[in-house]
Amino acid sequence: MTKKLRVGIVFGGRSGEHEISLLSAASILEAIDRRKFDVVPIGINKSGHWLVSAAAHGLLEGAAHGAEPEKELRAGDPATTPGAQVLARGTPALLAPEPAGQCEAKSAIDSHAALGGQSLDVVFPVLHGTFGEDGTIQGLFELAGIAYVGSGVLGSAAGMDKDVMKRLFANARLPIVRHVTLLRADWEKSPRKAVAQVATALKYPVFVKPANLGSSVGISKVHNRKELGPALTLAARYDRKLVVEQGVGGKKAKARELEVAVLGNDDPQASVVGEIIPGKEFYDYEAKYLSEGSVPVIPAKLSKSQTRQVREMAVAAFRACDLSGLARVDFLMEPDGKRRIFLNEVNTMPGFTRISMYPKLWEATGIKYPDLITRLIDLALERQAEKSRTVYSRE
Ligand SMILES: Nc1ncnc2c1ncn2[C@@H]1O[C@H](COP(=O)(O)OP(=O)(O)O)[C@@H](O)[C@H]1O
Ligand SMILES: [Mg+2]
Repeated sequence: MTKKLRVGIVFGGRSGEHEISLLSAASILEAIDRRKFDVVPIGINKSGHWLVSAAAHGLLEGAAHGAEPEKELRAGDPATTPGAQVLARGTPALLAPEPAGQCEAKSAIDSHAALGGQSLDVVFPVLHGTFGEDGTIQGLFELAGIAYVGSGVLGSAAGMDKDVMKRLFANARLPIVRHVTLLRADWEKSPRKAVAQVATALKYPVFVKPANLGSSVGISKVHNRKELGPALTLAARYDRKLVVEQGVGGKKAKARELEVAVLGNDDPQASVVGEIIPGKEFYDYEAKYLSEGSVPVIPAKLSKSQTRQVREMAVAAFRACDLSGLARVDFLMEPDGKRRIFLNEVNTMPGFTRISMYPKLWEATGIKYPDLITRLIDLALERQAEKSRTVYSRE
C-alpha cells in the first residue's frame, strides 16, 4: 500500500466569509477519503491566529457520525461544525515562510506547533474572500514550498479583483457589461465628477461594488442618481477601488444568473450549466446565505447553443485569469430581448459544502463529492510537480 498523504485543511480566516468557510470545511472533513489521506485540520480564527487541535481526530470522527450533517450546514451556525471546536480549543501553530528542512527559526516559534512541509504534503485552503482567496495565503504556501489546492498567487489575486478581472476578460474578447472603475480617492475628492462620469457612461439601474470582496458585501443596486452617492460611500468602506456596472435586465427585470464549475489545470473542463433563481431583487448576502428563497436549477434551461457557448466561455475565463484547480464561473444573462450573456466573475474558492453549487454542478456532471476532493488534491500535486521543473536562477 502506498503511504497516505497528509493533507492540511485550512479553514476560517479573517474575511467576512469566515463562517461560510467553516461550513465548507466541515463538509470536506466529513467526506474526504480517509483511505488515501491523513487529515490535519488547521483553523485560522478571526484575528488571524493559526490553530491545530490534538483532539482533532476525535472531533472529526464525531463529525463523520453526526446526525443530519447536511441540514446542520447553515451559515451563522458554526457551533455545529468541527472546525469551530478546533478554533475554540486548538493549540497555536505556525507555517514558516521557507521550504521544509531550512527552518532555523525554532526559537522564534517555540511554543507553536510548526506546520512545515515535512508534515504536510499538500494544503487545501478552504478559505473564501480576503487573505484566503486573494493570493496572500497562496504566497505563503509558495514560500513554504507546499503544494496547495486551487489557483496560484496571480490567478487568485486577479480572480478577486473585479476591475482587473474585467480587463483580462476583455483582453480575451469575452463579453462583459459596461462599467466604470473609480478610486475611493477620486470619489472622495470630487464626488460630482464621479457621479457625472457614471451618468455619461451608464444607464440606471447600475450596480456599485467594492472591487475586492465577495458574498455581495458592500454591493448595491442603484435605481437612480439619488441613490448613487450613498452606494459609492458604502462600497468605499470596503475597498480603495470601486466598480460601477450597467445593470443587466434593465429597470423591469432581474438578470438570470448562470454558473459553471471548472476543474483542471492546463486542460480545464467545464461542468453542466446551473442557474440560481434569487429570492430577492438580486443575489445579495441574505439571499446567498440566510434566506431559503434562492433556488438552484441544474441544468439551467438554455438552448443547446447557449449551453455550449456558456461552457466555452467558462473555460476561456479560467484561462484568461491564469487559474488552476477549480473555479466557479458566474454569468449574467438578459432575461428577455436579445438575451445576451455576460461574464460576471470567477470565484477561485467557491462555497464548497456538499450542497453548494460547485460540488452540485460536478455531481450533475458525474463526479461525486468525495472524488471531487481527491481530484482537487491530485491537481494540486500535479501543479506542484509541473512547477518543480522550473529553474529560478542561472545555474
Ligand atoms: N451588472 C449586474 N447586473 C445585474 N445584476 C448584478 C450585476 N452585478 C451584480 N449583480 C447582482 O449582484 C450579485 C452579486 O454581485 P457579484 O458581482 O457576483 O459580487 P460577489 O463577488 O459579491 O458575488 C449577483 O449575483 C447579481 O445578483
Ligand atoms: Mg457573485
